[in-house]
Amino acid sequence: MMEYVHLIFLSTFLSVSMTSETFDAMEHEALVIKCPRWSSSVKVTWYHTDTNKIIPAEEEGSRVFSLKRFLWFLPTSREDSGNYSCVIRFSNNRTKSFNMSLQVHPYKQGVCFPSQIRYPNDTGRGKIVCPTIDNYKNATIIQWYKDCKPLQGQRYFKGEKYIFINNPRKEDDGYYTCQFIYTHKGNVFNVSATRIFISKEKYSPLPPKILFPKDKDVIEVELGAALFLKCQARLGIKKQPMAVVTWDVDNIPVKYLDFSRFHEKTHFFEGREQEYYRETTLHITEIKKEDLQTNFTCIAVNEMHNTKATVTLQLKAQYGKIYDAYVIYPKSHTNEANFVEYFVYQIMPDILENKCGYKLCICGRDTYPGEDTATAIEKRMQKSRRLIILLTEQLINCKEHAYDQHVALYNALIQNNTKVILLEMETIGTYEKLQESLRFIIKQQGTIKWKEQHTVHPQSSNSKFWKRVRYHMPLTPKPSYSANAG
Ligand SMILES: *[C@@H]1O[C@H](CO)[C@@H](O)[C@H](O)[C@H]1NC(C)=O
Ligand SMILES: *[C@@H]1O[C@H](CO)[C@@H](O)[C@H](O)[C@H]1NC(C)=O
Ligand SMILES: *[C@@H]1O[C@H](CO)[C@@H](O)[C@H](O)[C@H]1NC(C)=O
Ligand SMILES: *[C@@H]1O[C@H](CO)[C@@H](O)[C@H](O)[C@H]1NC(C)=O
Ligand SMILES: *[C@@H]1O[C@H](CO)[C@@H](O)[C@H](O)[C@H]1NC(C)=O
Ligand SMILES: *[C@@H]1O[C@H](CO)[C@@H](O)[C@H](O)[C@H]1NC(C)=O
Ligand SMILES: *[C@@H]1O[C@H](CO)[C@@H](O)[C@H](O)[C@H]1NC(C)=O
Repeated sequence: MMEYVHLIFLSTFLSVSMTSETFDAMEHEALVIKCPRWSSSVKVTWYHTDTNKIIPAEEEGSRVFSLKRFLWFLPTSREDSGNYSCVIRFSNNRTKSFNMSLQVHPYKQGVCFPSQIRYPNDTGRGKIVCPTIDNYKNATIIQWYKDCKPLQGQRYFKGEKYIFINNPRKEDDGYYTCQFIYTHKGNVFNVSATRIFISKEKYSPLPPKILFPKDKDVIEVELGAALFLKCQARLGIKKQPMAVVTWDVDNIPVKYLDFSRFHEKTHFFEGREQEYYRETTLHITEIKKEDLQTNFTCIAVNEMHNTKATVTLQLKAQYGKIYDAYVIYPKSHTNEANFVEYFVYQIMPDILENKCGYKLCICGRDTYPGEDTATAIEKRMQKSRRLIILLTEQLINCKEHAYDQHVALYNALIQNNTKVILLEMETIGTYEKLQESLRFIIKQQGTIKWKEQHTVHPQSSNSKFWKRVRYHMPLTPKPSYSANAG
């Protein structure tokens, strides 16, 4: 079992020992070097590699000495520059050696770090660890320097063995020197070690700002339609490590909601002067009634702060038109075959819908029992581009309640600029009995007269009658429609 452990131990050594460590020391300072691997069961011997001489243990007055894992220079001298190695011997007598290279830099007034620095550069996000400090027992950092100037200020946080720069920027790049005190047997030594810092993420957060939507915006929607709610926020300069733009639906994050109804997508981009933006689109697949009572809140968060904007939905005042024409005709109350109904249910749909591709809303065909209320009719009329009214004697004479209603609603539609097409199905000698608004329309545009001869070929869309009807219909019939399409 012990053998096995040692083998693993050795293989770990072999992979590390290929790179020799380097030390840059200042003249007249203390230097302590540590053998890279060690355990209490191994024996360590230090050599001056170039002369192959063993470095002995400490004696009275000795300056360079070794003990177990450590090699001391108290203090350094220029002639100490050179190669050193620690050789460790395991209990099975196998050995392993590690090479270390030391450069002692001559002391120069006003220069706090050597011209050549071989400690690895720090390209992190602001934490700069003091090199070699782990080798010193009870060392205390007394001062940090950047480019030999003492560091102070709110942006620097001093740890036991490191300094942390808050939000490092390009100006923070440079030579960072830690100066500490090392005490050995009552003798106090100065030690300094320097490494280069290159700020990696030159980002800085800004107070998050939602550009759109505006808080308390009301967005017009249609029931059944899809909706894409976009939220765009500016979060800082350059890519931020902490930046979230997301939607809540009545305070519930979208990720916890039914994915088939709600989901969101985010992307980011940099704008002018490297301003960092995120934009998150909430996709609602189908607007439902309950969504009209819901708060949709966009939240933008960065490491600095967070902000919100809440929008609500309301129905569009005017629906998109979904019918090409709404057809008003007198309803027969007898069981007798009635030409007008035959015309409305058969001839007209065959020509205008089947042959020309229009969509008609025909009361009695496209409405259901109980739905025939004034508001339902009004909504359908509002969704229609044209209003087709069939003029008959019955229309003139009948004071039928439902029909009056139709006409009243149609009056309201005049104000909404829905075009009216009047089809004179029977010859009406005098229009005087007609409602004033109808008379007005007749005066303006006349009527399209259904004459006896048309009944010979009523299904011909090329007849003069249908040509005139189509002339008044919307220009291009849409190829397909669906109720509440959005
Ligand atoms: C130290 O070792 C390196 C190779 O690892 C060699 O290039 C250098 O000359 C040696 N230094 C001295 C002073 O012998
Ligand atoms: C290691 O070497 C020493 C002498 O150098 C010897 O006495 C000892 O038996 C050796 N141990 C092993 C495990 O080979
Ligand atoms: C250490 O240095 C010596 C002398 O330069 C060399 O022979 C030996 O291969 C080196 N060992 C390692 C592990 O680099
Ligand atoms: C450290 O950074 C300096 C300055 O940018 C560069 O000259 C040097 O090559 C870098 N050293 C390493 C080991 O990357
Ligand atoms: C640790 O170092 C400080 C000075 O840096 C010294 O006052 C103290 O006595 C030292 N403690 C030990 C246990 O050596
Ligand atoms: C340590 O450095 C300080 C200031 O940097 C200096 O005043 C002091 O004399 C130095 N001590 C030794 C022992 O060199
Ligand atoms: C929506 O927000 C308003 C205003 O903050 C609040 O009064 C209302 O209770 C919220 N509604 C829901 C369903 O959370």
